[in-house]
Amino acid sequence: MIEVLTDSPNISFTERAHLGQGPVPTAPYWSQSHFELERDQVFKRAWLCLGRVEQLPQPGSFFVQEIEVAKVSALITRDKSDQIRAFHNVCSHRNRKLVMEERGEATTFVCAYHNWSYRNDGSLLGVPDRRNFFDLDLKDCGLTPIACETWEGWIFINLQREPEVTLDEFLGAAKDDLAGIPFMHTNSFVEYEAVVDANWKVIADAFAETYHIPALHAKSLGPTFSSKANPFSRPLDARTWGPHRGMSCYGNPDYQIPDNAAVERLAYSSAKTGNTLSADDLDATSDLRNHPAINPTGADTWAVDLVWLLPHFHFHVSPGGFWTHHFWPISVNQTRWVARFYVPEPTTIRQRFQQEQFISRLTDILLEDVGNSITMQQGLDSGAKDVMYLQDGEVLIRHSIHHLQKWIEAASVRDALA
Ligand SMILES: [Fe+2]
Repeated sequence: MIEVLTDSPNISFTERAHLGQGPVPTAPYWSQSHFELERDQVFKRAWLCLGRVEQLPQPGSFFVQEIEVAKVSALITRDKSDQIRAFHNVCSHRNRKLVMEERGEATTFVCAYHNWSYRNDGSLLGVPDRRNFFDLDLKDCGLTPIACETWEGWIFINLQREPEVTLDEFLGAAKDDLAGIPFMHTNSFVEYEAVVDANWKVIADAFAETYHIPALHAKSLGPTFSSKANPFSRPLDARTWGPHRGMSCYGNPDYQIPDNAAVERLAYSSAKTGNTLSADDLDATSDLRNHPAINPTGADTWAVDLVWLLPHFHFHVSPGGFWTHHFWPISVNQTRWVARFYVPEPTTIRQRFQQEQFISRLTDILLEDVGNSITMQQGLDSGAKDVMYLQDGEVLIRHSIHHLQKWIEAASVRDALA
């Protein structure tokens, strides 16, 4: 059951999420021991979203996902029976890392060290000079599987040898409320990837509230996400599903392209994309926009919804499309951030031009966020402060901190989800 947090305008989102209102500790953002607890209790126990099934377009497709926090390299394949599978990317012979390419097409994988070979269903195919081994049973020497399930076209893995809960149980109420969202143009995305000197939560938090937009993005995004009526970009709505969470963000309905923004005017004046975080035409996105889980209050000042699945995955939906963020921890103060903006294949020159403008504008905005994350980490690492203060519009950050702590303390995943 979706827990909408806006039934009464007099009660804050934070209260409705049953969260405290006091300052929160900063240690989760700089403490090495806390990072290790997150690694063991969260990242090694939660279902982790990797991306879309369309990244494996046909039998024989594969990609490799490095999960530095757990020192795991995961090989994800689509085998000849069309099943998506995940394995530890490690040769059974002497345990060398097996596949070095990031992605590609291959029905077999050959270890470069001694040419042991594997099928893409994980079974061992061949061992050179096999007779010189001792009672080698090929059946015992396949790739080590990793639990892998899909939901609504999203691929998830679980690093527990035997996951304590299924993906369905992990997603809980979010599974049904978010079912059927018609994610569009899933074959084509613009990808940004960077290793950022900041704790993974610093970057995840940066894309989970709009309070910063009128300040940090004053010259870029500010005028489209705030107005005289809502100068601090207060959210329209927030909701939680167990350890997962979502928010609907405000957009300025009266935004006008400034007279001196000649390129933006050229790109958007004849486009109906809803707002400048959109790459597609409004006519094409009605099914997406009308899904009951998207902008659930039906606000006509709606700019974007974000959904944050514990621990490290966001998807965002705007009137003109969707995008995702993965925040992969590397160390306590380093993160590999991957953002994918799904865009239609342009069919007209105008659409192509509009997308170029969209991408260049986006790059400016993302640089503001990522650059700020580095500055955030410097302040946190200084040790000057034991706590930080969160306002109601930052409820998703508070919810994230709360549930990560719950997972850290929980003896079992079922306890963490209870
Ligand atoms: Fe931002």
